[in-house]
Amino acid sequence: MSTPHSVLITGANRGLGLGLGLVKYLLTSDPRPHHVIATSRSLGGESSKELEELAAKESCLTVLQLNVDNPATFPVVVEKVDTIVQEHSLNVLINNAGIFLKKGIDDVTTEDMLQSFGTNTIGPLMLTKAFLPLLKRAASHASDKPPGWQRAVVINMSSLLASISDNQGGSLYGYRSSQTALNAITKSLSIDLVKDGIITCSVDPGWMKTDMGGPDGLLTVEAAADNMLKLLGTLDQSYSGGFLKYVQGAITRLDY
Ligand SMILES: NC(=O)c1ccc[n+]([C@@H]2O[C@H](COP(=O)([O-])OP(=O)(O)OC[C@H]3O[C@@H](n4cnc5c(N)ncnc54)[C@H](OP(=O)(O)O)[C@@H]3O)[C@@H](O)[C@H]2O)c1
Repeated sequence: MSTPHSVLITGANRGLGLGLGLVKYLLTSDPRPHHVIATSRSLGGESSKELEELAAKESCLTVLQLNVDNPATFPVVVEKVDTIVQEHSLNVLINNAGIFLKKGIDDVTTEDMLQSFGTNTIGPLMLTKAFLPLLKRAASHASDKPPGWQRAVVINMSSLLASISDNQGGSLYGYRSSQTALNAITKSLSIDLVKDGIITCSVDPGWMKTDMGGPDGLLTVEAAADNMLKLLGTLDQSYSGGFLKYVQGAITRLDY
């Protein structure tokens, strides 16, 4: 399978998290990207130990600090990424960081809603905006290739719980609505960025055995990472703006 020159994944620190699973998977892929950039909300502590130890062994892996709730810090991160990726620029941005506040109608607060929208919706939008010059440059640098992950792709990690038409369980006000809004953002980005050769998709990784999904999840992190990379490698322009899931060897479109 072809691979992109560079990939950036947010929220990639947790031992039991999709972000670190994707990093590990990319590092074992053949050929592997020249640059894998993994970001973590904090560095130097227990929560990023495994990621930082991996980076000490793998020359193509760089770890950067990034709190997606803090857009004021984005320009510094973009500048560091620009220095790493150089003329090939950044091909793939995976907005993976997210929070799941299990709040129903009896206990949801204004603060919960603001926090959910801050991390799950506004963070990915503003980070994508900050990385646009690099993504455009990557798409232009690889203009001999068809739209896809060797040019420029933005993945917004969403969830089936974002689907209004599939909502049969109610509740989860902050998580569901912030992910629904993220899907709306994906659709607008796909329209705005088509002229630049940038594909934008929302992806449901499935219910995973992560810190967020819990031990009853249906997919291991490894299986979810494998699915995600196969989806990424298969993406073409026709999927841009879609709400997608990789099931049984193919990309499936979910209902908004
Ligand atoms: N788990 C599931 O079954 C499932 C299902 C559908 C969709 N998803 C989506 O898939 C993505 C990954 O899920 P996961 O299960 O791997 O989640 P997870 O285990 O809870 O990990 C979430 C990651 O996001 C980071 N994060 C949270 N807030 C952040 C912030 N403000 N700035 C930077 N990083 C932040 C966390 O960092 P800290 O360690 O610092 O908190 C952690 O690394 C999420 O977007 C989630 O909504 C998950």
